Amino acid sequence: MKTTVISAIIMVMFVFPSIVPAQEAVPVENPLKTEMRLLDSAFKNLIDSLIFNNPKTIQEPFEEVHKAKKNTEAALEKGLIKLPKNNDKIKDFIKMDEEFHHNMEGLIEASGKGNMKKVQDITHKLLNGCVQCHNRFRN
Ligand code: HEC
Repeated sequence: MKTTVISAIIMVMFVFPSIVPAQEAVPVENPLKTEMRLLDSAFKNLIDSLIFNNPKTIQEPFEEVHKAKKNTEAALEKGLIKLPKNNDKIKDFIKMDEEFHHNMEGLIEASGKGNMKKVQDITHKLLNGCVQCHNRFRN
């Protein structure tokens, strides 16, 4: 009797998931990750533009990053972003992010003027920004 009950329970445990479909979590994309992936491709494009001396190809992918930043900001305001590391230091994160975007604006201005020396200097600053922010809030 006891064994029958136990095997019945075990059977139900095995069968149940197949007859009641598991609640599928709706995949909500984290806007920070979306922004980061756009930034990643904008940055790689920047490196190519720099080494091939093409100032005109720099700006466009950064426009996409700029648009995505608006979604990140809205999500940050609503407290919807959870940083993988040091989530309690969100104010420092915002400060680093602002500084990074400020450098990005300088980059676009310099590329618009075809000032590749300045573009190169700011590219170094931006790279440091990626590494610093990831060390503190991601890695
Ligand atoms: C102000 C902080 C900050 C800066 C600056 C920053 N990142 Fe990030 N990045 C993050 C955080 C935080 C994550 C982790 C997001 C998560 O997993 O929720 C991340 C994640 C990423 C990811 C992974 C996205 C994914 O789909 O999981 C890539 C790629 C990336 N960053 C590229 C870059 C590049 C390239 C730069 C510089 C050009 C950069 N990031 C600058 C904070 C930053």
